[in-house]
Amino acid sequence: MNEDLKGFIKPGSEEESLFNQLDFSRLPRHVAVIMDGNGRWAKKKNLPRIEGHRAGSKSVREIVKTSSRLGIKFLSLYAFSKENWKRPKKEVATLWRLLENYLKKEDKVLVKNQFRLRVIGERDTIPVSVRKELERVEELTKDFDRLTIILALNYGGRDEIVDAVKRIVRDKDCDVESLDEEKFAHYLYTNNIPDPDLLIRTSGELRVSNFLLWQIAYSEIWITPVFWPDFRKKQLLQALVEYQKRERRFGDIHPHESSDL
Ligand code: IPE
Ligand code: IPE
Ligand code: MG
Repeated sequence: MNEDLKGFIKPGSEEESLFNQLDFSRLPRHVAVIMDGNGRWAKKKNLPRIEGHRAGSKSVREIVKTSSRLGIKFLSLYAFSKENWKRPKKEVATLWRLLENYLKKEDKVLVKNQFRLRVIGERDTIPVSVRKELERVEELTKDFDRLTIILALNYGGRDEIVDAVKRIVRDKDCDVESLDEEKFAHYLYTNNIPDPDLLIRTSGELRVSNFLLWQIAYSEIWITPVFWPDFRKKQLLQALVEYQKRERRFGDIHPHESSDL
């Protein structure tokens, strides 16, 4: 077992048996997560919804740590959608406050571990104090690349595509006739980030809720009924093992299969 993982995976545990099934040469480069079910987790325990969000931030810490130790290079986390503004004001305010506190505390951890933070979403309407924190931490970590954490905040996939079109129209150097998928992708928030190989959604919902619509065109999707606050390394390892059983054909046929035409 690699040095980094010693003491991290308990001998004889379910995690260890999952870990042993992993092929480290075929890990996804980019894992994206729709962190859902905080409210239902709290309700099940007769707690206010906000306690679910608080508990969810512990899962974020664990998944960030586990991803980096395994060698995943990009981790996208859907933390606040454009549609989430529809929620009661108090819940929205608390969510932003939790995030601000998280950034104030975690910046040292990011620096120590050489993690980079990148924020995707519409920045202008993020509360000012949170925006300042985000920009501070982005600047602080911009030269790191051990793991890039892409935090989707005030994010909408359709919005991102419309925004890209606006940028193209404004860009005098852009020759519209020569635009193709690759060039278009440079105008997205995720410029220079590879598309997710694996998309995870917790809490059992079978939808993408406006997350990375362009980028997930060929992502493998794994959905677990587990609520986000209960998501631990075991579930991440399950998702990775499952991912490695899939055959990614990208529209082609199996390489050893011939068309008997
Ligand atoms: C995900 O949990 C967190 C955010 C969307 C901010 P939810 O708050 O959506 O939890 P459920 O879906 O109501 O259980
Ligand atoms: C998706 O969860 C958004 C985030 C995880 C931030 P939601 O709870 O908002 O999604 P819907 O409303 O169930 O589609
Ligand atoms: Mg939800």
